[in-house]
Amino acid sequence: MTSSRFIGSSNFGFAQYAQEEIRRLFPGTKFKYLEPGELFLIDVPAPAEEVTAALLEAEPIFLRHIQPVQHELLLDKTGDDLLKLIRLIQELRPFAAGEKVAVQARKTKEVKFAYTPYGVKDALDPILQQEQGVESVVRGADKIISVYLADGTCYLGISTPRENLSDWNGGMVRYRKEEEHVSRAKFKLMEAEERFDLDLTQFQSALDVGAAPGGWTSLLLERGLNVTAVDPGHLHPSLLDHPQLTYLQKNAGDVTFAEGSFDLLVCDMSWSPKQMSKLVAELLPALQPGGILVITVKLMHKKPFQTVKETLQNLEPDVMLLKAKQLFHNREELTLYGMKEGF
Ligand SMILES: C[S@@+](CC[C@H](N)C(=O)[O-])C[C@H]1O[C@@H](n2cnc3c(N)ncnc32)[C@H](O)[C@@H]1O
Repeated sequence: MTSSRFIGSSNFGFAQYAQEEIRRLFPGTKFKYLEPGELFLIDVPAPAEEVTAALLEAEPIFLRHIQPVQHELLLDKTGDDLLKLIRLIQELRPFAAGEKVAVQARKTKEVKFAYTPYGVKDALDPILQQEQGVESVVRGADKIISVYLADGTCYLGISTPRENLSDWNGGMVRYRKEEEHVSRAKFKLMEAEERFDLDLTQFQSALDVGAAPGGWTSLLLERGLNVTAVDPGHLHPSLLDHPQLTYLQKNAGDVTFAEGSFDLLVCDMSWSPKQMSKLVAELLPALQPGGILVITVKLMHKKPFQTVKETLQNLEPDVMLLKAKQLFHNREELTLYGMKEGF
């Protein structure tokens, strides 16, 4: 096959940038919105394997999730649709016994169906388990069946979580509320851990720039690190007595540290990327060679590619970019993951 079809998702308002990134990889790609601003069909003039390999090799910043479209079914939005889906899976028998399989279903917001996306999972799970011997899971799947219900058409594809760029349904990362005790911002660092395959427990000593009220600091402390938190604002009282915390209630421009004091530098300042990156650049000597950076970059005027370029220019030549990604928990932002050179 010389062409292939996918469904892509981005954060709301950023689809055009995801599309631009895909078009750069595959000129001639066509897009059609399924949900304005965030969800779109992708028709690529290249085979699916080639597209997936290229996306994994040079992962687009704004493409949060992608699912292949290998089968399309006509829908009449009644319970009969579920029978059609069951029949398709019975014909395909696409899995080996014992494989862990997640059914991830979504639907177009405005369109009404006689069943919910969860009903799709409920219909397929027993068939997969009883007739095909697979283990139904929600997370940690070997394979995912992605089902998208649009007005009149169901788009279905089978792939691995890695191929989808995320093992969350549509890349929508849903952490439990009670994990959110200090600030919602904590979710950004939790998601960065997952997205960048970053084991925070491997670090000894972190500098958290723009730390208040302390979501990121609390996660780093939970992971066992010594944390130096810098912010003129107030840290959450629950953190203040932590034996591994040093809290400097100051502007980050007014602090200095001995060379190589930290092996991790995180920064989540809601500030202009230019000023933020200059400030981080000044703090770089405090990071050991080979040390890791996780930095939130605010997208001020919606020129994201230029913003990334300028931010990196301010950090060069000391920082090597490992990945730039707009996380589900980033709003008008994206997250940079980098390493200090000289290891
Ligand atoms: C989005 S909040 C950080 C949230 C934090 N990551 C969390 O998890 O709770 C941005 C913080 O950056 C701080 N900030 C802004 N400019 C700063 C500067 N020059 N030096 C230090 N902190 C700064 C602000 O005071 C604010 O508390």
